Amino acid sequence: MTASWIGFAYLLASALFILGMKRLGSPRTAPAGNRMAAVGMLIAIVATLFHEEIVRFEGIVAGATVGALIGAIAAQRVKMTAMPQMVATFNGLGGGASALVAGAELIRLAEQGVAPSPFVSVPIVLGTLIGAVTFTGSFVAFAKLQELISGKPTVFPLQHLLNLVLGLGLLGLGGALILQPEELRLFWTILGLAGLLGVLLVIPIGGADMPVVISLLNSYSGLAACATGFVIQNHALIIGGSLVGASGIILTQIMCRAMNRSLANVLFGGFGATTTRTGAGPASATGPVKSGSAEDAAAILDAARSVIIVPGYGLAVAQAQHVVRELGDRLIQRGINVKYAIHPVAGRMPGHMNVLLAEADVPYELLIEMEEINPSFPHTDVALVIGANDVTNPSARDDPSSEIYGMPILEVDRARTVMVCKRSLNPGFAGVDNPLFTLPQTMMLFGDGKKMMEEVLRAINEI
Ligand code: TAP
Repeated sequence: MTASWIGFAYLLASALFILGMKRLGSPRTAPAGNRMAAVGMLIAIVATLFHEEIVRFEGIVAGATVGALIGAIAAQRVKMTAMPQMVATFNGLGGGASALVAGAELIRLAEQGVAPSPFVSVPIVLGTLIGAVTFTGSFVAFAKLQELISGKPTVFPLQHLLNLVLGLGLLGLGGALILQPEELRLFWTILGLAGLLGVLLVIPIGGADMPVVISLLNSYSGLAACATGFVIQNHALIIGGSLVGASGIILTQIMCRAMNRSLANVLFGGFGATTTRTGAGPASATGPVKSGSAEDAAAILDAARSVIIVPGYGLAVAQAQHVVRELGDRLIQRGINVKYAIHPVAGRMPGHMNVLLAEADVPYELLIEMEEINPSFPHTDVALVIGANDVTNPSARDDPSSEIYGMPILEVDRARTVMVCKRSLNPGFAGVDNPLFTLPQTMMLFGDGKKMMEEVLRAINEI
């Protein structure tokens, strides 16, 4: 294939990446966007294989077959709740691959006795450094989320100072490698120490904060790929890598803002030790709490004209999405106006609620984002909160002394009646009590989300 055809193929691939990513912005167009970006990647891979005058294809075909098989099986088998772990492994492998490609180019040049220009040696150092940090950091994140290691922050004295010294040392070694690119020992030292830094950077972060870290590591994997693109002069890799780098950092920022935390607080705060609470602990909210039965809930819902369903992390734990959709459908059949309120950080991963509800075939037009739905709560008869806690906590809006003050919330407390389904009065991820549970208009439905919604559905069908 001639250079102009290769250039055209890379341009087409990059255009497909960008258009595909734009379509990921809405659940309706996301599957098509995903396919579009995948076609772009296929075009880029095929063009690269033609371009590089490959002598033997056996290794490439074997590698691609094994990789495709693992990817296809993982995509089919992995549970929605384990999606952050899967993304973590993909990021890690992407970062590791970038570091290896950068290293392979350095070794090839050294063997040929060619001294790389700074336009090549600087990206080699960056690709190796960022790629290795991403590789080990992502696998620690994976292990924490998969509970292979403790999700608690691992902290020890002078930890941040050690990381700083290690980071500065790596920059110094990187500078030395740029000056003496033939010194391959420097490369191996950077690879090893950067891997160690990746571990040290992620261990002090609590398991429940891992989604933010994974999004940040996703950005790093893009930057590493971009640097490697400069090393091997591959334009599709440069563009694709920068897109991943930029979108990862934007997503990290959105998640931090929606949690009212700074990135520094996530990275250095030792917060988010909570993973899954079992709900067996003591009641923690103070004040009188009204609780009701499934029959009470059914009667209230039947009398309502408008209902907003508010899903949260507990909905995912209970896997209640299908029964909730059935309940929503039944209410709509009874002439009730039903909407679903989506908070940007409800659950434990970006788009968690969208994905769960899409899995249960809830129509996209019924899913309404926080800013859009909040003005509707004061005119709504019932806010039905299922397994959501922090994202509905009024103290985030009203109590400047609250740890989560400033975090935007779904203003369910402004609805005429609030029903909250969860197993206990235990707090959610942030570990903060929720005064919503003791408001006069609130009725608690204590129990597992799925079981309780099944009972409410049964009771509605009997009315
Ligand atoms: P949370 O505040 O974590 O509350 C979830 C609630 O679900 C818990 O209080 C729990 O109460 C209940 N629950 C658990 N299992 C249940 C079950 N089987 N049936 C019924 N209820 C169950 O969740 P949220 O309101 O979705 O807020 C998300 C939180 O996670 C925010 O603080 C956010 O900042 C944080 N976070 C989000 C992300 C992303 S990207 N989404 C990433 C990291 C952290 P019981 O134990 O009493 O049942």
